Amino acid sequence: MGNTDKVSLDWSNLDFSYVETDYRYTARWQNGSWSEGELIESALMQVHEGSTVLHYAQSCFEGLKAQTAPSGEVLLFRPDLNCQRMARTTNRLLMPEVPESLFMNGILQTVRANAAWVPPYGSGASLYIRPFLVGVGENLGLRPAPEFEFRVFVSPVGPYYKGGGLNLIDLAVIDLDRAAPKGLGAYKAGANYAGGLLATRMAKELGAQEALYLDPAGHRFLEEAGSANIVLKMKDGRMVTPKSESILPSVTRRSVMTLAEDVLGLPVEERPVPFLEEVDDIEEFAACGTAAVISPVGKVRMNDHWYRFYGEGESIGPVTQQLYDRLTAIQKGEEADPYGWTVVV
Ligand SMILES: Cc1ncc(COP(=O)(O)O)c(C=O)c1O
Repeated sequence: MGNTDKVSLDWSNLDFSYVETDYRYTARWQNGSWSEGELIESALMQVHEGSTVLHYAQSCFEGLKAQTAPSGEVLLFRPDLNCQRMARTTNRLLMPEVPESLFMNGILQTVRANAAWVPPYGSGASLYIRPFLVGVGENLGLRPAPEFEFRVFVSPVGPYYKGGGLNLIDLAVIDLDRAAPKGLGAYKAGANYAGGLLATRMAKELGAQEALYLDPAGHRFLEEAGSANIVLKMKDGRMVTPKSESILPSVTRRSVMTLAEDVLGLPVEERPVPFLEEVDDIEEFAACGTAAVISPVGKVRMNDHWYRFYGEGESIGPVTQQLYDRLTAIQKGEEADPYGWTVVV
C-alpha cells in the first residue's frame, strides 16, 4: 500500500452510503478481447443511449469488503469466490467472463490507490468494494451488447441496517417474489435488485428492515432476505440454511456454516425449510451477507402475524454472537485464518 495518511472522515459513524473516493478501475471488452485495465479519476460513465444495460438490464455486480488488521495490513475476504460468482452470472447473462487476473487486479489496484479511504482498524467501518460489468455500445434489438465495461469502485461504509452493529432486525414476508424458479435468483444480476425495491418498501411500511422471500413456486419454503441469506440455529442444536436454486450463493453464508461446523461443532444442514411448519423449532434466526455481516433477526412477519425469536429486551443469541465474533475476527485479521480466506492487499 502506498501513502496511508487517512482522509478526515467520522469513521465510526458511517452508514452504508456511497462516499466518493479518488480512483476507480476500468477495462473494456471489444471485438472479443479485454483492454488493459487502468485507474481513472472520474466517477462518471458515458455510455451510448442504446446500451443493453440501460434497456435490458444486461448488468451484474459483486460486493466484498477490505478491512484493516491490527498489523495495519489491509485484508480482502475470499475474493476468489466473488470472481467465480461473477463468472457464473456473466455466463447466465451472455456477458464476457472477467478473467480472474483482471478481476483481482481491478480490486487490488483500486484499494491500493484509495488507501487513504480504507477505514482504520478499530473504527468499526470497512471499505466496500463494488466490481461490476455492464453491456454498452450502440444497439437496439434484444441481443447481447457489442461492448462491455468492467469497473471497480470502493466506498468506506458502516453498518448496513439502521441502528447498526448487532441490533436485532425484523423481516417481513410480502406478496411479491424476488426470483422465478429458473430465473436469475442464484445470480448477482442487477435486474434482481430493481425488482426488489418495491418489496423492501412494503416491508418497511410494515415496520421491518427488509423483505424476506419464500420460494417463488409454492411460497412455502424459506429463501432469503433482499440482500442477505438466512441461517438458523434450531432448538435441536442443528445449524440449518435454506437450500434452493433461486437464492444467491452467499460467500458469508458458506463461511458461517463452515465455522458453525468446525469451530462450534454444530451439525449443519443445507435443506429446504418450510417456514410455517418449522418456525416453532427455530431458536436463533439470522441474516448474513457482506453488507449485513451477521444480523440477528428479532421477528418475522407473515400473514399479519409477527413470529418472534427473542423476548422483549433480549439481544443477539449466543450462537449468532459466537459466529459473528469468529467470522469478524478472521475478516479483520484478529485471529488466525486456518482456511486461508483472507488475502493481503
Ligand atoms: C440477494 C443477496 N443475497 C445474499 C447476499 C449475501 O452474499 P455475500 O455473503 O456473498 O455478500 C447478497 C449480497 O450481499 C445479496 O444481494
